[in-house]
Amino acid sequence: MSTTATEVESLTSQKVPIFIMGKKYVVPDSLTIMKAMEYAGFQFVRGAGCRGGICGACGTVYRKPGDYRIHVGLACQTLVEPEMYLTQIPFYPANRARFVWAEAEPTGETVGQLYPELFRCVACNACTKVCPMDVEVMDYIAALKRGDLAAATEISFNCIQCGLCASRCMGELPQYHIAQLARRLHGGKLAPKTPHLEQMVKQIADGYYQEKLQELMKMDVEQLKKVYQAREMEPHQADEHWEPKSNEGL
Ligand code: SF4
Ligand code: SF4
Ligand code: FES
Repeated sequence: MSTTATEVESLTSQKVPIFIMGKKYVVPDSLTIMKAMEYAGFQFVRGAGCRGGICGACGTVYRKPGDYRIHVGLACQTLVEPEMYLTQIPFYPANRARFVWAEAEPTGETVGQLYPELFRCVACNACTKVCPMDVEVMDYIAALKRGDLAAATEISFNCIQCGLCASRCMGELPQYHIAQLARRLHGGKLAPKTPHLEQMVKQIADGYYQEKLQELMKMDVEQLKKVYQAREMEPHQADEHWEPKSNEGL
């Protein structure tokens, strides 16, 4: 029987007590919160996605003994600490505006109309302090109060939509949904178009990939694996300019 990575880690680490939703468990100290929860017997059906710090599904709040502060982190990225008390917040029910994309003007007024609570921000900065991605949340909110979609897009670019900022906001703003609207309006209606993207969308619409797709759909799993493994991959550390040797299928 093969040994899993978590089992190997559990054999080589010290054990520490942690409290998950109020109950004590003893887990290896080398584990992330997510792995420690699995080690303790929890199974993730919500609150886990990419396991790589990108999807924002695993927001976790915790306290440490002798510290009054609430700490936050991504369960898949944060290591356990002795005696930490934790619980997960896989979803935060923040307000999300509905609108018709084709009719939405790419302006600060649109953002203010769809999210009038934007102006309830009291600049307390609690959102920035809580953000596990170190996004300057208050700054993008301030940019949107000025109607500056470009600045809000730039500042909020690393947001992973975990919702933790909204959980701490005394103005009850859904900051991450507001910033996503700004990025969509800016990216979709204001930023310069990329010619190669438009060309590719047209190629798809014209059926350029149909034949190749049909070929793939006829393959069984083994053939698909072979094709997948033989593909030319972009190197992990490419020079500034890299192109595949063959453009077939692109
Ligand atoms: S937590 Fe809310 S009120 Fe405080 S700065 Fe952030 S958006 Fe504004
Ligand atoms: S801005 Fe808010 S939703 Fe986005 S990563 Fe930071 S805390 Fe999470
Ligand atoms: S599981 Fe995706 S960020 Fe943690």
